[in-house]
Amino acid sequence: MTQSVRVLFVCLGNICRSPTAEGVFRKLVMEEGLVTHIEIDSAGTHAYHVGAPPDERAQAAARRRGIDLSGLRGRQALRDDIERFDYVLAMDRENHANLLAICPEGLEEKIRLFLEYAPHRTEREVPDPYFGGSAGFDRVLDMVEEAARGLLADIRRTRLSHF
Ligand code: 4NP
Repeated sequence: MTQSVRVLFVCLGNICRSPTAEGVFRKLVMEEGLVTHIEIDSAGTHAYHVGAPPDERAQAAARRRGIDLSGLRGRQALRDDIERFDYVLAMDRENHANLLAICPEGLEEKIRLFLEYAPHRTEREVPDPYFGGSAGFDRVLDMVEEAARGLLADIRRTRLSHF
């Protein structure tokens, strides 16, 4: 069967938060046996780090939780991505606004804040850890792990109810 649901995680640089979300969500989807049904990718609203691997601190924090981000490479989010992906999930409001600015008319509903899927948290934005210390990367992982579980539950309920 072809992959029926496509999920894109988006932050600013595509080297810290969105590759972390990609790795966390992929691990969860693999554990649940749904890899053939869900396509997962990440991108940045800016092109600063196109072609670069995830930040070393993001890789180290993810590795401590059994997640390997080393094969990922930065790329920029494009207008076509919003056509192609079903869920376009922004890490913060600035990313959300930047995505809306390139969104084809009528597809705005696809663009959401990722933390909408972590309704028990009070925060709605995953803070940018780039200019801080390593604790910020662990905090990103905590938030992203919770939202990833909520997202998968939503996908199961709305798109994969026969699995
Ligand atoms: P990200 O973090 O958006 O989570 O990948 C950042 C990475 C790089 C920069 C800012 C945020 N930067 O200014 O280069």
